[in-house]
Amino acid sequence: MKPIRKEPPTGVRPALSAKSLVKRFGGVAAVDDVTIDVGYGEVVGLIGPNGAGKTTLFDLIAGELKPTSGRIWLDGAAVESAPADSRLAHGLGRTFQIPRPFPGMTLIENVMLGAQGQSGERIWPNWIAPRQVAREERACRDKAMDLLAFVKLDRLAREPARILSGGERKLLELARALMAEPMLLLLDEPAAGVNPSLLEVILERIVEINRRGPAVLVIEHNMDVIVRLCVRVFVMAAGKLLCEGKPEAVVRDPRVIEAYLGGASA
Ligand SMILES: Nc1ncnc2c1ncn2[C@@H]1O[C@H](COP(=O)(O)OP(=O)(O)OP(=O)(O)O)[C@@H](O)[C@H]1O
Ligand SMILES: [Mg+2]
Repeated sequence: MKPIRKEPPTGVRPALSAKSLVKRFGGVAAVDDVTIDVGYGEVVGLIGPNGAGKTTLFDLIAGELKPTSGRIWLDGAAVESAPADSRLAHGLGRTFQIPRPFPGMTLIENVMLGAQGQSGERIWPNWIAPRQVAREERACRDKAMDLLAFVKLDRLAREPARILSGGERKLLELARALMAEPMLLLLDEPAAGVNPSLLEVILERIVEINRRGPAVLVIEHNMDVIVRLCVRVFVMAAGKLLCEGKPEAVVRDPRVIEAYLGGASA
């Protein structure tokens, strides 16, 4: 596979900073004193063995879990106490390890759910300004259609999401997350279980998203994917940040090899 990543710009302010994050479940620290940052313009990887705490770290950043301690800034704003929906307003988008589309809804309806602050979502404007609501609804539908075309699923726009393969569901999630025009995207294993031809589409689209603006933090077990996408990688094991560096260097780091071979997650 040929590399498609690009070098990060220098001197940019971080899209995401997290400092000394801790999340305990009972006596177990799933995330244990983790400090990371992602700059505008970057695609950064997050790797580590099963159970390392990667998804839990995403849940903390996205506000789905409250940290036991630690700080989180999105675009410079402290958000560790803010609810999940306000983090969307701060420009955060995410996809899930297991995609969660509404199976009975069409693809276009699923993507439209990712929109933020549409008038139609509120009760009042529906009868104060119905024309404006109709206009916004149309614009929202057009945008959702454009995003479905962007992830190459537009031909299925009016089909129910239940007919999609696992890989197509990942692409649908990507389109939904882009609806709110995020400045930072958290992608949890976008390549897992995806067939090789769809994998190419997903990788290409991630690179194109980043080229258009948003920073990306991507969890992935497939090292070929990490090497192609990322200039910088964080490695977690057993809740802790093990090291950070270029993917080629990180995979040769004895601590990383030991974590994977030695089952540091156990
Ligand atoms: N809600 C929860 N309650 C209790 N323990 C949890 C909870 N969520 C996660 N854990 C534990 O935290 C640890 C980290 O889990 P997490 O899902 O973050 O790992 P991961 O690095 O994403 O793993 P994988 O690569 O398998 O997806 C695991 O030991 C897991 O069992
Ligand atoms: Mg996970």
